[in-house]
Amino acid sequence: EVSPEFTKGLPKAELHLHIEGTLEPDLKLKLAKRNHVDIGQTTIEEVQKTYQYDDLASFLAVYYPAMNVLQHEQDFYDLAFAYLQRAAANHVRHVEIFFDPQAHTSRGIPFATVINGLHRAVVDARALNVDAALIMCFLRDFSKESARKTLLQAMAYKDKIIGVGLDSDEHNNPPLKFARQFEDAAAAGLHLTTHCDIDQKDSIEHIRQALEMMDVERLDHGTNIVEDPDLVDFVAKKKIGLTSCPLSNSFVSPEMKGKEVLALLAKNVKVSIHSDDPAYFGGYISDNYYAIANKFNLTKDQIVTLAKNSFETSWISDEKKALYL
Ligand code: ADE
Ligand code: ZN
Repeated sequence: EVSPEFTKGLPKAELHLHIEGTLEPDLKLKLAKRNHVDIGQTTIEEVQKTYQYDDLASFLAVYYPAMNVLQHEQDFYDLAFAYLQRAAANHVRHVEIFFDPQAHTSRGIPFATVINGLHRAVVDARALNVDAALIMCFLRDFSKESARKTLLQAMAYKDKIIGVGLDSDEHNNPPLKFARQFEDAAAAGLHLTTHCDIDQKDSIEHIRQALEMMDVERLDHGTNIVEDPDLVDFVAKKKIGLTSCPLSNSFVSPEMKGKEVLALLAKNVKVSIHSDDPAYFGGYISDNYYAIANKFNLTKDQIVTLAKNSFETSWISDEKKALYL
């Protein structure tokens, strides 16, 4: 009974979206040309042929090198504004956008170039009726010293950032590695979230650290939590949001964690549906809603609950939230 038109038309909050993961092949090629960067491909088909991955590491190996085409402030603006136009078309009313400053500063792009370009697009999105904010992620496979330096750089732009997160390769990079950075970020008034990717080594231990020792407000993915009923009770009671991304999951897990999402919904956990890296995983937020709805025969009520959960666990004001709940 749930149609693509229904999932598209529903007002939604997007809470798990990496801006670098919205770099579509056509913009990638355009920026490569504009900035004279050789990416090894010259047609959309050639670019798409490089999109082969079956786990987090093989995805990241395709994902990071492509970022070389992002050189100037205008490039970051163009990337973000193109995404925000798609968000508007998908009836996304509020979006909290991840960005990875270290993926850029590590190749010589100033922090200011990244944040100023992204922020300008966030401001211009108001004209599209999209309320947007930025979440700065630390790359967890980089050192904690590098994270510290990044947090210090961010402090000059604190009013342009709503929170911090943790992404990239989770293997042997537990949340606690960044405990001090998270504590300092929280003290500076920033919200906290972290990726706990699906089916990782030490998945439950990472989830436990994030929840019990670092006081995160959301878990990105995090659906492996169903293996631990006590932690499920904890997130239900505390209204911790879990941001699941079905199409991204489908690259590494045949059932896209649909059963886990349903089990969490049944326990009144604030789980919601998002798009992760839509240019790489085959669809934007409405496509992700439709994919899980179609495969698991979700009802319209369940879809509406997922969308309400997205607003409820977002970091907008209570007054704005009330408009959507
Ligand atoms: N960076 C971009 N997408 C990611 C994901 N799904 N997990 C970890 N790091 C990421
Ligand atoms: Zn992600």
